Amino acid sequence: MDLVHREGLARVAKFSTPHGIISTPTIMPVINPNIRTISIEDMKKMGMEAIITNSYIIRRNDNLRTHALEKGLHDLMGFDGPIMTDSGTFQSYVYGDIEYGNTEIVDFQEKIGSDISTILDIFSVPEDTHENAEKAVNETYRRMNEISGERKTIIAGPIQGSIYNDLREKSAKLMSGTNAGYLPVGGVVPLLEQYRYGKLCEIIINSKLNASFDKPIHLFGGGHPMFMGMAVLLGVDIFDSASYVKYARDGRLLFQEGTRDLKEIMEFPMWSPIYGKYTAKELRDSSPEERTKVLAHHNLFTIFMELREIRERIYEQTLWQYVEEKSRAHPALFAAFKSILKYKEKLEPFFELYRKPPLYYFDESSQFNPYFVRLQKFISGNPGFCGQKSHVPEGAWQPSRLSEKFITEQYEKSSSPYFLRWMGIDVPVELEEAYPVEQVIDIEHYMEFESDEVPEITLSESERIRNFDLEKLRTLCDFQFGYGTGKEVFPDESEVTKSRATGRIRTVSLNGKFLATMRAHDGFLGLNIEGGNRLLKATRYPANRVVVNEDSADFNARGYNVFRKFVIDYDPNIIPLNDVLVVDSEDNLLAVGKAMLSGIEMATYRGGMVVSVNHHTRER
Ligand code: GUN
Repeated sequence: MDLVHREGLARVAKFSTPHGIISTPTIMPVINPNIRTISIEDMKKMGMEAIITNSYIIRRNDNLRTHALEKGLHDLMGFDGPIMTDSGTFQSYVYGDIEYGNTEIVDFQEKIGSDISTILDIFSVPEDTHENAEKAVNETYRRMNEISGERKTIIAGPIQGSIYNDLREKSAKLMSGTNAGYLPVGGVVPLLEQYRYGKLCEIIINSKLNASFDKPIHLFGGGHPMFMGMAVLLGVDIFDSASYVKYARDGRLLFQEGTRDLKEIMEFPMWSPIYGKYTAKELRDSSPEERTKVLAHHNLFTIFMELREIRERIYEQTLWQYVEEKSRAHPALFAAFKSILKYKEKLEPFFELYRKPPLYYFDESSQFNPYFVRLQKFISGNPGFCGQKSHVPEGAWQPSRLSEKFITEQYEKSSSPYFLRWMGIDVPVELEEAYPVEQVIDIEHYMEFESDEVPEITLSESERIRNFDLEKLRTLCDFQFGYGTGKEVFPDESEVTKSRATGRIRTVSLNGKFLATMRAHDGFLGLNIEGGNRLLKATRYPANRVVVNEDSADFNARGYNVFRKFVIDYDPNIIPLNDVLVVDSEDNLLAVGKAMLSGIEMATYRGGMVVSVNHHTRER
């Protein structure tokens, strides 16, 4: 997978197949080779880039089989882009045993030229016992290993495990370690049909977090637009679904937030391809074939519209917010959102250090946002913040404006930690500019509120014992690079320069050498080489480091970016977009730059850029 853009586990990426590149997230419409409800041309106009069909159906029908064997699958389907084929597992789940074996059906898929061929995995249902579900996981793994050797087709190895988290974890790990280049999450159709989205979210999380990040994650049958945003947020790249036809046959219309019945609908929305062509009554009165065709068009159109919105949300980095909004559309989605929140600590490390849009704060439920989770983790894990604590007086702080008087008369004459009362939690005052403390928009912004006069502060008799600017730099450093690093990186003699226009810290140096800059847009630190060297000394290997091999070291030392294939070790706690130290195998600093992946993801991505280098130690 080539990553293009991200928000947490959600990604816009590209996946190469023998018949072209698939841009994700996307859906493969299910096409039954015997029945064409929508033409390939019409699907392409909606944004379809790949389709899925069933090799089992092709194989057992003489005409289809002969056509596919003689002229190929792409000719049979009338589509020259990527085609995935399923194996007949689903048919064996619905109809009982089928007449072909695993290697036989995979060989057939390869022979007819399928781009992605699925093994004959064992479909576990939600009601299966743990013992049976485990047997299915083991057997699916055995069958995957049966498909050995170089193939002209990408092999899809489904992750099974029913509703059991430990089995999903086991299956994801097992299948990731095989030749499978594509990882569908299987056995979930019954849950989708019953709107058991909460359980489904857990299944996706447990599969995704234990699967290789380098391989696409597919959700078998997950084609209702109301759930797709959640699935993408949890790392699903590709969907397939026959839902657009199935719902059409039942006289139902898909909408981005739910389903409506043709019998009850009064008006079609203006964005729908049906709009202006039929009234609801006309469509109700038309023939079943005509009705199915028209509704299928509407349904697939809705699915692609939702995918466009999801991709846009990833670019904007507002998918979390979108999912939060949508969770109020149906109790099943709200239950699902709550089950996502159970995993908030596990999801947090995948979120970038900062993002462009502000954080919207509505009420306490917004505190489950990953950026809150990260702040709270820092606060509770920092011994300096335990014990006695004081609050910045009401009115002494407005975003981007901490009262000078408070700083000189109170903060700098005290040694106790000061906290801002911020969005229902206490935040160390030194983080006043860091994302999302300053970059928050809450309802008070839009409500009438009282004057914000700074109350009179009583003068303290004591001496100044600390410097707010320095403490701010140190706390930011602790937040970004680990508790205790701030004191080491920024010693007392550090010198600060500030913006004349805003009064904010811009750079920090020591003996004439830059240590770091403080970025205006997110309020975090960007390290310079000198700061990097001090951080290196202050922390133990491999904290904050990306280690490169000798083929890459000199290039990186001269300012070139770091690519995955040259990385030999890394800190698993790295957060995307945070600064990291690029070092050689002897722990010498080569460069500092921005991490493009989380440390957890570095384990399995095999290609792509890992660090965008900002400062380097040698001349070009
Ligand atoms: N289609 C829907 N669910 C599944 C599954 O679990 N495995 C396969 N192969 N196809 C499916």
